Amino acid sequence: MTTNPEDSLAEVGDVPPSTLPASRADKIGHRFLEVRDLRVHFPTDDGIVKSVDDLSFGVDRGQTLGIVGESGSGKSVTSLSVMGLHKKGTARISGEVLLDGENLVGASEERVRGLRGKRMAMIFQDPLSAMHPYYTVGSQIIEAYRIHNKVTKQVARKHAIDMLDRVGIPNPKSRADDYPHQFSGGMRQRAMIAMALSCDPELLIADEPTTALDVTVQAQILDLIRDLQQEFNSAVIIITHDLGVVAELADDIMVMYAGRAVEYSTASEIFNSPQHPYTWGLLRSMPRLDRERTARLVPIKGTPPSLINVPDGCPFNPRCPHTALTGGASHSEVPVLRDLGHGHRAACHLSAADRARLWNDNEGQTSG
Ligand SMILES: Nc1ncnc2c1ncn2[C@@H]1O[C@H](COP(=O)(O)OP(=O)(O)O)[C@@H](O)[C@H]1O
Ligand code: SF4
Ligand SMILES: [Mg+2]
Repeated sequence: MTTNPEDSLAEVGDVPPSTLPASRADKIGHRFLEVRDLRVHFPTDDGIVKSVDDLSFGVDRGQTLGIVGESGSGKSVTSLSVMGLHKKGTARISGEVLLDGENLVGASEERVRGLRGKRMAMIFQDPLSAMHPYYTVGSQIIEAYRIHNKVTKQVARKHAIDMLDRVGIPNPKSRADDYPHQFSGGMRQRAMIAMALSCDPELLIADEPTTALDVTVQAQILDLIRDLQQEFNSAVIIITHDLGVVAELADDIMVMYAGRAVEYSTASEIFNSPQHPYTWGLLRSMPRLDRERTARLVPIKGTPPSLINVPDGCPFNPRCPHTALTGGASHSEVPVLRDLGHGHRAACHLSAADRARLWNDNEGQTSG
């Protein structure tokens, strides 16, 4: 522990500003999860896959961070890194993952395993990957609960049934004895949420929790995550390829492209004053209530780059219609994530005037 006040000041000064949207700047150094300069590379026969590069973000308890980006942008690799779930020897990981101040990068597997469940839990994109097919749903929740709570099987079973009830599973007492394949997709997702939440985790990461579900069930699952967060005051990260999913839930949003953060700010800034051409693309391809019904939805042209051969300069340059305005910089210099004011961060070479003009023109086109 630090006793010298000068040392503790030095610690505060060490926090990279890029992890702190302005609204949270007062909590400098106190964020429950603080990820700094995370880099995750996978050596493969075809070359090094740079899945995550120089990523810094954070979230407090009681708050929700949305991480948004198309498929392949590094969202799941990021969440597996936080949870310490990459298979040993497959990934080269550097940077810091500070959970309540404790760095998990380089911590022993045993230590990180001990934190999973109670301090941090994850809802996976595919519930079948998180559940064992040969054990009943109830027994898996009981097992997860008993790892962290010294209680009898009966007490744990009652808790599991309560949790299944909380997540809206009808007849939880009898459904607890069903196997995962006997549940529908939506029910399986709920059961996995029950399992993830059974130990009241302080950090919950939900990786595309609604992707496979129909719209009504999606809304119910998101409500459920919100209710449970309020009840347990958890820090929540919701990962999605769809900005619409986090529109109402997130306090902050980080937009990822090709393994990097390209824009990071409060949700209201991202929706009302987006600053990056990629975010504009995501917004234009998403139906919005505040737009005329006739507004066109415009998908982003092209596909994300290979993370083995990321283009020189800005990784978005092959798909960006505005490169001509940057005097060649889009093709030669990697834009850094920089503060544009109010803690709103974006990584783009466009001038402030060009960004303002382009976004206004763009809004004019899509709301007409
Ligand atoms: N174990 C691995 N080995 C090699 N490449 C991987 C591995 N896991 C993920 N990747 C690659 O990392 C990139 C990011 O993947 P991912 O984080 O799953 O994207 P997202 O969740 O945003 O869709 C992809 O190009 C993917 O192929
Ligand atoms: S840096 Fe250039 S290519 Fe990248 S988003 Fe900005 S204008 Fe587009
Ligand atoms: Mg994913």
